[in-house]
Amino acid sequence: MAKVLVTGGLGFIGSHTVVELVNAGYDPIIIDDLSNSNIAILNQIAKIIGFKPAFYQFDLCDATALNQFILKEDNINGIIHFAASKAVGESVDNPLKYYRNNLYSLVNILEAYKGKDVSLVFSSSCTVYGQPDELPVTENAPVKPAQSPYGNTKQISEEILKDAVAAGSAKKVISLRYFNPVGAHPSALIGELPIGTPQNLVPFITQSAIGKRGKITVFGDDYNTKDGSCVRDYIHVVDLAKAHIAALNLLGNGFTGYDVFNLGTGQGSTVLEIVNAFEKVTGIKLNYEIGPRRAGDVEQVWGDVSKSTKKLNWKTELNIETMMLSAWEWEKYLAANPL
Ligand code: WQD
Repeated sequence: MAKVLVTGGLGFIGSHTVVELVNAGYDPIIIDDLSNSNIAILNQIAKIIGFKPAFYQFDLCDATALNQFILKEDNINGIIHFAASKAVGESVDNPLKYYRNNLYSLVNILEAYKGKDVSLVFSSSCTVYGQPDELPVTENAPVKPAQSPYGNTKQISEEILKDAVAAGSAKKVISLRYFNPVGAHPSALIGELPIGTPQNLVPFITQSAIGKRGKITVFGDDYNTKDGSCVRDYIHVVDLAKAHIAALNLLGNGFTGYDVFNLGTGQGSTVLEIVNAFEKVTGIKLNYEIGPRRAGDVEQVWGDVSKSTKKLNWKTELNIETMMLSAWEWEKYLAANPL
């Protein structure tokens, strides 16, 4: 059974991808330094897949630790690299943490597996597009100057991967540019687990609805959109996880070189549409107000996903209502079963 290393495998997208890897017949091995995740998720994953996957706790910036891992797990067929710091606001306050953590970890992985016939799937972000000139945004759109050190680390990482492939030190690499991952596994046993006050919209909504947070602020309703609030392409985390399996399958079937794919639904939704969808599916009236715009927000972005559909043979199946309901079921599970 093909062994797949999942770095950051106890995180939000990583944990859902571990589940889908098992469903697809792969053998996942998790590395996570627990700097932004909870060890309890390992047991939660086990409740879903029926066994506890192999787990190693260390920092991928530590090349010695990575080399010791490789001595133990020497026949890795594929790597899905999620491990990275990802809070836009924090990256502005602490850029060096982001450049060190996000870039050192990637370079260490590339050096450790240099020249080996290993597939690499990289977790990138639509942040690289900034405010696109044309919508929906395709993979050929120009990469815009990053709006944050976090976004810059994703842009630099993609350049590092392209150069590594061009030099022959990496053989087959796919970067996946996520739009806005939301929702939770249908079992409600895993989901998004923000540490501290959620910066992202949907976890703030669910925590406000359950009473953990106060009023939701909609950051601006004076944008040039249908209802004045920003537009994003929200994608269910399970659909997103399945796209990683599709990318691994492509890499394992004769693919060589480097390519990039958008992972979204191809549809945009406004913030107020998300609020209304949550209220509709849960029957809960949300406590929100319109506030000032948030610095760094782009007005609207959603993806053209035709390349992913065609080349990855993948498309999203879950709609906004399912995203909201699954996020809410997970929040209720957490309230009853603190991790
Ligand atoms: C979505 C919309 C906010 C909170 C970021 C990263 C991206 C990815 C996902 C890592 C925006 C509005 C939000 C709130 C609000 N992360 N909002 N009130 O900023 O699109 O993307 O997270 O890969 O890289 O950039 O996501 O959920 O923070 O915001 O009105 O309390 O919701 O203004 O329009 P974002 P988000």
